[in-house]
Amino acid sequence: KTIYLKDYQAPDYLIDETHLTFELFEDHTLVHAQLVMRRNPALSADLPVLTLDGQQLELLELKLDDRALSATDYTLTDSHLTLQPTQASFVVDSSVRIHPESNTALEGLYKSSGMFCTQCEAEGFRKITYYLDRPDVMSSFTTTVSGDKQKYPILLSNGNPVASGQEDDGRHWATWEDPFKKPAYLFALVAGDLWCVEDKFTTVSSREVTLRIYVEPENIDKVQHAMDSLKKSMKWDEEVYGREYDLDIFMIVAVNDFNMGAMENKGLNIFNSSAVLARAETATDAAHQRVEAIVAHEYFHNWSGNRVTCRDWFQLSLKEGFTVFRDAAFSADMNSATVKRIQDVAYLRTHQFAEDAGPMAHPVRPDAYMEISNFYTLTIYEKGSEVLRMIHTLLGEEAFRKGSDLYFERHDGQAVTCDDFVKAMEDASGIDLTQFKRWYTQSGTPRLAVAERYDAAAKTYTLTFIQSCPATPGQRESDKLPFVIPVELGLLDAQGDDLPLRLQGEAAAAAGSRVLSVTEAQQSFTFVDIAEKPLPSLLRGFSAPVKLSFPYDRDQLMFLMQHDSDGFNRWEAGQQLSVQVLQELIGQHQRGETLELDQRLVSALRTLLQDGSLDQAMVAEMLSLPGEAYLTEISDVADVDAIHGAREFARQQLAEALFEPLWQRYQANREVSRTTPYVAEAEHFARRALQNIALSYLMLTGKPEVLAATLEQYEACDNMTERLTALAVLVNSPFEAERSKALAAFAEHFKDNALVMDQWFSVQAASTLPGGLARVQALMEHPAFTLKNPNKVRALIGAFAGQNLVNFHAADGSGYRFLADQVIVLNALNPQIASRLLAPLTRWRKYGSERQALMKAELERILASGELSADVYEVVSKSLA
Ligand code: ARG
Ligand code: ZN
Repeated sequence: KTIYLKDYQAPDYLIDETHLTFELFEDHTLVHAQLVMRRNPALSADLPVLTLDGQQLELLELKLDDRALSATDYTLTDSHLTLQPTQASFVVDSSVRIHPESNTALEGLYKSSGMFCTQCEAEGFRKITYYLDRPDVMSSFTTTVSGDKQKYPILLSNGNPVASGQEDDGRHWATWEDPFKKPAYLFALVAGDLWCVEDKFTTVSSREVTLRIYVEPENIDKVQHAMDSLKKSMKWDEEVYGREYDLDIFMIVAVNDFNMGAMENKGLNIFNSSAVLARAETATDAAHQRVEAIVAHEYFHNWSGNRVTCRDWFQLSLKEGFTVFRDAAFSADMNSATVKRIQDVAYLRTHQFAEDAGPMAHPVRPDAYMEISNFYTLTIYEKGSEVLRMIHTLLGEEAFRKGSDLYFERHDGQAVTCDDFVKAMEDASGIDLTQFKRWYTQSGTPRLAVAERYDAAAKTYTLTFIQSCPATPGQRESDKLPFVIPVELGLLDAQGDDLPLRLQGEAAAAAGSRVLSVTEAQQSFTFVDIAEKPLPSLLRGFSAPVKLSFPYDRDQLMFLMQHDSDGFNRWEAGQQLSVQVLQELIGQHQRGETLELDQRLVSALRTLLQDGSLDQAMVAEMLSLPGEAYLTEISDVADVDAIHGAREFARQQLAEALFEPLWQRYQANREVSRTTPYVAEAEHFARRALQNIALSYLMLTGKPEVLAATLEQYEACDNMTERLTALAVLVNSPFEAERSKALAAFAEHFKDNALVMDQWFSVQAASTLPGGLARVQALMEHPAFTLKNPNKVRALIGAFAGQNLVNFHAADGSGYRFLADQVIVLNALNPQIASRLLAPLTRWRKYGSERQALMKAELERILASGELSADVYEVVSKSLA
């Protein structure tokens, strides 16, 4: 069944107060709910039937205003409970039995490693009790939890603790009160045997907030980084957005079985343990940065999501796009801003652009869905964040802040729409964003082609922009209207310096960047006083999520790599150069010719490696060739084997040609790593990033001194970043004995640490050596593997299908068959994970006809495999349509 935005109707009834009591037992849980309700005063005075959402609930008792209802007084289906109120204000009491102990979907109330926890967004609360489970119904909540004191000494819910007590049968209870009205999707409950690290934060108005991070006892030594990140986030949101925390206590709980990264439940964030736990010995630099970003993201939701929430799920990007935009700015401030931008753009272009080009493409504000869980997408999150970033670029820092202040003030305590957000931005800035709003409604990635014309006699330089957007499901190309595309750009003179950018009719300008707003299908801008033909640096900082094309030649790209004043575009020039070089190699591979690497790439990278003044993280990013997934995305028909062969050939050639400078940089950085203890900070991330990418190139030469260095790093390092890289390098090397030895030693040493074992699975799943599927199948039998844990599924099966493209796309279809088999099993166990896992199969249009047929056959097989969850059905049926 499809739900449409155009069908939105305000709720017939409101819930002013929600009083919940949970009695937790080993083989069931009882949930008593008292809902203090009234007719929505915005609607007419008559009393329509009340339809409550409820799924997989066993109704034990139902009362309306203290009167027990019998089966003839209400209607019950597998998704709703309907009854007839008799007055405008009334109280509904229900008791239901549920089974968290056998809930493998990890939605609603469930058990993870012996503890009880919840995940209610988007529509999980209806699996806990009968309710109006929609975000525009906001209620105050009181929650009492009772359970065995020994097994569950910690009992938590949203808000502040107000009462607790013992019972004589070994049970105890605690009552929590959340004074802020919230939709049910922000409800949370946790019960378990947990330890916590506690800290304090004093807010800008001098209120003391207690901070607690709860984990299983054995992980108590891995929470300091998350706590530091939390305190930094709280301070940053006060300084940059003027947002203060509002309760006396803020809690984070880490759970091992979690479908996503984390959840912003009011005052009680629940996290995938992979997004909380981090310490040098067990988590990589990337994992440390991910923890910092996710802690910030969930904390920032307290304002962008909780205090101001979404009217309906079509508005999801209202909170997610905005909050990703906020966490990205935070991470940029905490670390290297340019590197953060490079990583975000690489991710967006590889994965969101692919989504935009696939069968599930949808606008930032979708207008229809079957299963909302399928819309927690890269488009809602990452493209949504880019849309906010463009508003920021168009308005400027100051007006944007005024707009966000107005938004929070105007809508505090409300459930609102993306239109309300944009209206606040318009009202605060005086800028009309009517046309800009097409970014919310038109799906697909716009193309922006740029042409130049230099008139030496008139000293003018004209740039002509032509924009278009390809067809996407439900939207023809001809239906799409021009976007507002902010193009930040500079013009470089022959020395590589930025020229002053003065458009015809303008007064003199200072040298540097400026932003042009491209608003028409075709539009030209003419710069005056340009004494010589300049070289344009376009879309600096990736100022809009578009596919830009400009006919650069390779020498120009090398020039930009060295001289562009915009760090992002220096990287981008390197990527474009690499893409040109790699596409040439791919062509040679396809024609069966001898591969020949353009030596200009070698010399460009040599220059970078030899420049000791550059940020090492930037050098590491620039040494990373565009990934196979990105090369796939930009191909019309992706030739898996040619892409892999060409890229590996280039890596091999670079490793040999640049052996000396790589080896030097490696040794110098390893020496620092060897002699300084691990620190999770930007300059150290940078040093290790360069060290590790250097090592992975060096090993391609197979030289004995590199093998020795890898083994030394593997054994002697004090942190997971170096250890995992050394392991990965061995796993992808021809040194079979050393590889097996390291893998076995690693597993033996870390067998009790599930998160580290995830990395052990991933490194092997991603190895492109032949025989990948057999290795993955063998690993599925490993005692540490289970399909019931989403992190394990992602680490092994997800990494295989998403990162090991040559093996997954094996020409005999074995990879596809394997993935479909897993999707069919997971469909019954955990529909959300099943539906996400199958994404690689939905990209069949990218491949040649033989692979297309094999991929489609597997999709058909899933479709015919029996009763499908809404999650899997929606993705499979849309990708076959
Ligand atoms: N709101 C959460 C976050 O982005 C994500 C929750 C997603 N849950 C889901 N079932 N899809 O921080
Ligand atoms: Zn979020």
